[in-house]
Amino acid sequence: MEDRAQTLVRKMVTNIYYPHPASIIDVKEETPDIKTFTLSFKDEEIHNRFTFRPGQFVLLSVLHCGEAPISICSPPTFSKGLELSIKKMGRLTGEVHRYSKGDEAGLRGPYGNGFPLEELCGHDLLFVGGGIGLAPLRSLVEYVLSNRSDFGEVTVLYGARTPADLVFRDDLAAWAGKEDLNVMITVDRGDSEWKGEIGPVTHLWKKATIYPSTTKAIICGPPVMISFVVSDLLKMGFNEDDIITTLERHMKCGVGKCGHCSIGSKFTCIDGPVFTYRQLKELQ
Ligand SMILES: Cc1cc2nc3c(=O)[nH]c(=O)nc-3n(C[C@H](O)[C@H](O)[C@H](O)COP(=O)(O)OP(=O)(O)OC[C@H]3O[C@@H](n4cnc5c(N)ncnc54)[C@H](O)[C@@H]3O)c2cc1C
Ligand code: FES
Repeated sequence: MEDRAQTLVRKMVTNIYYPHPASIIDVKEETPDIKTFTLSFKDEEIHNRFTFRPGQFVLLSVLHCGEAPISICSPPTFSKGLELSIKKMGRLTGEVHRYSKGDEAGLRGPYGNGFPLEELCGHDLLFVGGGIGLAPLRSLVEYVLSNRSDFGEVTVLYGARTPADLVFRDDLAAWAGKEDLNVMITVDRGDSEWKGEIGPVTHLWKKATIYPSTTKAIICGPPVMISFVVSDLLKMGFNEDDIITTLERHMKCGVGKCGHCSIGSKFTCIDGPVFTYRQLKELQ
């Protein structure tokens, strides 16, 4: 039987309220202002015990800067550590962008509800991502690929401002090569080498085959993109419960205590960040 000291240690290492030290084991430059960091918990027990659902996030802590919520963009099966794709926005993310292999940060979590995997099961899936919004979707797309027979038709529509702003290029190329995944990419402005689609992500509707009655749409991107996408999906006949999005709100505690992330009667950090369109409509 576990003695008191062992219980205390177990509670400490699994406590989601404490930031745990993690080492940066890889850094990948995605775009001029987005890098993907792979972090591994220094404590092997925490590393081994850490589990999450696609769509959940961690609070990343950086000395002298504080904490920032960041979605986990790797799939739950990725065993090297956690991948976090981070856009340089301000003080904390700017500091993280100076980090290289071997540097350390703190991580606590996982937090949030994550995507409703059980409800997605058995459906066609339509992913619509914009810019860095592909980060939480990537975790779910990889999960779906690992459990492919549980889902119907899967389509990924992704848009970025320019070809240089496309994230996860290797994954997009690998996904595009799969017979059981439809991938379409567009940019707002092309360049001399770009031979692909030009226009907002909604411009891809006419290329994609979408079955509103059997499909769950999962959207993440800038708020303006989300609102255009949702409006078009409703016009196509999507049920409000089948439109799922993940929200970005200012957060402090991440655990439902401080009220910073409130939206109506809910807290984005514990009730979200994943909500259906129907839930959001009722909250606002
Ligand atoms: C659940 C969740 C998941 C997120 N996942 C990611 C992710 O995977 N990758 C990523 O790069 N970013 C993500 N973000 C946004 C990220 O947390 C902010 O960009 C970060 O906190 C900015 O910190 P900063 O100190 O660098 O910027 P600050 O100096 O604090 O602010 C710079 C600018 O960013 C805006 N900003 C700050 N925090 C947020 C926020 N939480 N939401 C929206 N705008 C904000 C400020 O209004 C300001 O305009 C996520 C946010 C949430 C709530
Ligand atoms: S971040 Fe404190 S309540 Fe959500």
